[in-house]
Amino acid sequence: MARKKIIAGNWKMNMTPSEAVKLVAELEPLVKNDDVDVVYCVPAIDIVPVVEAVKGSNVQVGAENMYFEESGAYTGEISAAMLVDAGVKYVIIGHSERRDYFKEDDALLNKKVKKAISAGLTPILCCGESLEQREMGVTMDWIRFQIKSDLVDVTADQVKDIVIAYEPIWAIGTGKTATTEQAEEVCKGIRECIAQMYDQATADAVRIQYGGSVNAGNAAELFAQPNIDGGLVGGASLKADFGKIVCY
Ligand code: PGA
Repeated sequence: MARKKIIAGNWKMNMTPSEAVKLVAELEPLVKNDDVDVVYCVPAIDIVPVVEAVKGSNVQVGAENMYFEESGAYTGEISAAMLVDAGVKYVIIGHSERRDYFKEDDALLNKKVKKAISAGLTPILCCGESLEQREMGVTMDWIRFQIKSDLVDVTADQVKDIVIAYEPIWAIGTGKTATTEQAEEVCKGIRECIAQMYDQATADAVRIQYGGSVNAGNAAELFAQPNIDGGLVGGASLKADFGKIVCY
């Protein structure tokens, strides 16, 4: 069963609303590829103008974060319902920058995953090891721990529609991409973990991205791997190169 590739830009804390609209217009002719799902995950304040700017195109919009509570006194937070109402389809959950700088732990991320799914958003659930963990040889143990904890009480039916992004922390924003073999090995391991937790059909359906210094030069080889179903792209999603990645 063929899984449709999904290539998502993660803009992080870049692009003011007016810059965002310009970038969408610049990329518009470059990101046409009906064989892949194209997503721009943008800062919260850019969501409304970007949703408007991508109207009529093949691009969908994602958020970079959300809170799990329905509504109320959570100053500074954004709810799943707000995202849905604004036209957002995807939400990145558990990016290593949020785990690290904002101390988001797996118990919190599990709540966010469940809330996103129940609101009708597709989580792009991130996992990945540090360089120290890789060197200690505990990469797959760590990733399995993250996946299992973040998916507590999530059903097989729900899991088959989510996206998992494998992003080795040492490869993010460093220009140091994992080798194709390293990326495929972990993405395959994630699929085996899903098969163990659920069943083979669920594992075969879930889309697993690689992220970490994906660029126009390495995308095609990464995406050709049997267990890599696209990419989560940071730095290279902010320039024309993103078109080359989408049309790899
Ligand atoms: P990068 O970021 O492509 O700049 O390494 C990827 C990510 O953090 O999602």
